[in-house]
Amino acid sequence: MADLAIKGGPKTVPDGAIQPWPWITEEDKRAVMDALERATPWRYPYEEITALEAEWAAFVGMKHALACNSGTASLHMCVAAAGVGPGDEVLVPAFTFLASASCVLHSNGIPIFVDIEPETCTIDPGKIEERITDRTKAIVAVDIHGVPCFYDEIHEIAARHGLYVIEDGAQAHGSVYKGRQVGALGHMAGCSLNGSKNLSALAEGGLFTTDDDRLAELAGRVRMFGEVVRPGERRQYNAYMMGWNYRTDPLQAAFARSQLRRLPEMTAARQRNCEHLTARIKDLPSIRVQQIPPDRTHSYFFYPFRVQPYKDGIDVPVWAFRDALAECLQAEGVPAQRWQPHLVPEQTLFQFRDAYGKGCPWSCPFARPGIVYDGAEYPEAQRLVEEALYIGHSTGGLGPPNDIQLMDLYADAFEKVLADHGDELLALAREKAQAAG
Ligand SMILES: Cc1ncc(COP(=O)(O)O)c(C=O)c1O
Repeated sequence: MADLAIKGGPKTVPDGAIQPWPWITEEDKRAVMDALERATPWRYPYEEITALEAEWAAFVGMKHALACNSGTASLHMCVAAAGVGPGDEVLVPAFTFLASASCVLHSNGIPIFVDIEPETCTIDPGKIEERITDRTKAIVAVDIHGVPCFYDEIHEIAARHGLYVIEDGAQAHGSVYKGRQVGALGHMAGCSLNGSKNLSALAEGGLFTTDDDRLAELAGRVRMFGEVVRPGERRQYNAYMMGWNYRTDPLQAAFARSQLRRLPEMTAARQRNCEHLTARIKDLPSIRVQQIPPDRTHSYFFYPFRVQPYKDGIDVPVWAFRDALAECLQAEGVPAQRWQPHLVPEQTLFQFRDAYGKGCPWSCPFARPGIVYDGAEYPEAQRLVEEALYIGHSTGGLGPPNDIQLMDLYADAFEKVLADHGDELLALAREKAQAAG
């Protein structure tokens, strides 16, 4: 039996075995070069941008798509189009990336957090209603890791309380919930095209979608200085409302269009890879792989797994076992690591509650007084933060051209660390716990 790599043994996954993301082909390069040929003179919108919008709208099955320069911008377009303003509250899962909540602050609204359902890690519909007040305007439903939320339940609650459902699909392009694509699961959706994402514009970008003409018009104003811009009409240079410059550029749009053509194929490859990995590691001791309901698919932006030594009666702090496992897997060449080390409501911004100075927007006279954020109110999200390790993002090797051969190497490394050298792993975890006192 080979020694652990962390103890000087051979590495299971050789250097150079992982192909990075995004996967760039000759076709992508040609698409960008062709757009560059047509890029001058400056004009807005470029044909590449309107074509991306039409193609994304058709792909997800929504009437309108608006391309913008980040996922965060697309979410802010949703929040602003929903009419969220000073003192309005928006429900957001306690476990997500910051932008799902900061998009609310961008409109002077107040994020109110909700715990997650532990298996899908998405907002728990059973805990939404207790957070609704007379100021609540919307729910941001985040398809975290690549898994769609419980949309039937969320829409039912939203309809009863007159709320907008805003889908944050930043991590889940290509996933499907009950036959509908991510990007079409809320009244509005925002998706990121950041370079780590399953669909990317190479570096940065975003896509807003809706079926509603009025919301699309409002989001379009937010994207462009608050102005109304209609195809074929002369620009008026008149701001009707507060707006930003969230426009994107044609080279990014060209890259995203080229990638979108391969999205179904790339999603299927991720699913094949991750399902193969799951089949090989699911019965190993002290970890638990994710199981999602059969009514939705997982597009595996991330492959999260939980570290649970307690389920095998091992009495060691979870964090110590988790960190020891991550170090051993990394030494073997598996890029397993933590993602968010804090819940969003535990981040400094929310603990100090000062976004714009002078405590705004929490100190605004329209805001409900006394809003504070206590991580202990979200026990399932806390447990996820403590237990989860991740493979994924731009160097995780989940997407093509990586294939199940790489997954087999990953699985071999998991077996080596967890099964063959379980005693040494536990000893490392105990050392960590002891060192921490
Ligand atoms: C869940 C989630 N929402 C929003 C965003 C924001 O997207 P962007 O980085 O494109 O602004 C991200 C991406 O980083 C994300 O993971």
